Amino acid sequence: MRRVLVLNGPNLSRLGSREPDVYGTTSYDELVAACRATAAELGLDVDVRQTDDESELVGWLHDAADGAIPVLLNPAAFTHYSYALRDACAQLRAPLVEVHLTNPATREEFRHTSVVAGVATGTVAGFGIDSYRLALRALAAQP
Ligand code: DQA
Repeated sequence: MRRVLVLNGPNLSRLGSREPDVYGTTSYDELVAACRATAAELGLDVDVRQTDDESELVGWLHDAADGAIPVLLNPAAFTHYSYALRDACAQLRAPLVEVHLTNPATREEFRHTSVVAGVATGTVAGFGIDSYRLALRALAAQP
């Protein structure tokens, strides 16, 4: 079974209670369950993780690079300024889909820049937890 890593950056564990007007009321646990259900449908072996720690996220990306494992990444706020994360993503050898619940392009100016987008295979943004479902489908369809 093809392995996929779903990696979530800072504050995403707070989904459900975090700014519900912006991010909705779906909890992080529900997001994890939705990823697992979609992965099962697609025949993917999914490992869903979250961290608030940049170095931990970089370490997971190194493991994905070494193992040539496809990655679905919601870098959260790191999207907009973490060159360390970008450089770790650049080392990946399997497809990378950048995912966002919201559409950062419609939000504050500082969210309009993604330092990750330039090294991602593609980006899915703006569809709430469906962004993750769509991204998993995109990864499953990659050769
Ligand atoms: C986010 C968008 C980011 O700008 C923000 O910092 C997040 C979540 C999203 O999924 O919409 O934490 O990545």
